[in-house]
Amino acid sequence: MTTTSRPPAGALYPERIPGPGLELRPWDEELVTKMARWGERGFPYHAFDLGYLRDPLRARAELRRAREPGPHRHFIAVENGEPVGRVSVNLRDDSGLYLWSVHVPPEHEGRGVCRRMLGTLMTWLEREHPGHDFVLTTNAFAEHAHRAYKALGFRIVESRWHFDREIAQQLWRVPAEQREPIGPHTRFHNGRWEVQVYVMERKRGAPMELGSTP
Ligand SMILES: CC(C)(COP(=O)(O)OP(=O)(O)OC[C@H]1O[C@@H](n2cnc3c(N)ncnc32)[C@H](O)[C@@H]1OP(=O)(O)O)[C@@H](O)C(=O)NCCC(=O)NCCS
Repeated sequence: MTTTSRPPAGALYPERIPGPGLELRPWDEELVTKMARWGERGFPYHAFDLGYLRDPLRARAELRRAREPGPHRHFIAVENGEPVGRVSVNLRDDSGLYLWSVHVPPEHEGRGVCRRMLGTLMTWLEREHPGHDFVLTTNAFAEHAHRAYKALGFRIVESRWHFDREIAQQLWRVPAEQREPIGPHTRFHNGRWEVQVYVMERKRGAPMELGSTP
């Protein structure tokens, strides 16, 4: 991959942010190559799947996007050189430090990567970008995510119905048994599928339970 058109990561990112049992790093070629091989979940979490990074052109474009200047910062959680999760933050959202693209692949789930990754990022943000609270939106069916977010001090402040084009398109296509588990959080309204989403907020400095470090 060429590196000429990319701004130096050091101008925007620390080399690494150490955390319990992992560290956060900016995207780089080696980590992108490894993330391309992450396991995938498919519907209804298909938007997070990264198999498209196996296409070198897409990988190059995503790496460029993940390093470009602007309001967003994109981090990869790394354990012993292996990428185990990713998260992005919008530093300039009106509602606060806005966390998005929280993703831990299935082979690394259930051992606190999400909690430790977000805990590390928020501790760093509280220091480097002080004076802001945290906010995120989450699909109401993403129960594992909510458990992690609540342990980190997030609370649901709003519930709303949202038209997510990608999920709506899939809802027409997937068999009923795949629709069923998320059924309580979907509705067919005014001729289109909508998904229930929660807005969650965390006050800066709120206590966090990071769980045990492996
Ligand atoms: C949500 C997600 C980030 C959680 O990552 P994770 O590293 O497994 O999360 P953690 O281990 O820190 O905690 C998640 C909670 O779900 C539980 N959990 C995770 N995987 C589980 C599984 N397969 N079976 C049962 N429980 C599970 C954990 O035990 C934990 O619950 P606890 O706090 O009560 O012990 C990950 O599952 C994911 O990427 N999902 C798809 C994308 C997504 O939903 N992103 C969030 C969008 S807002």
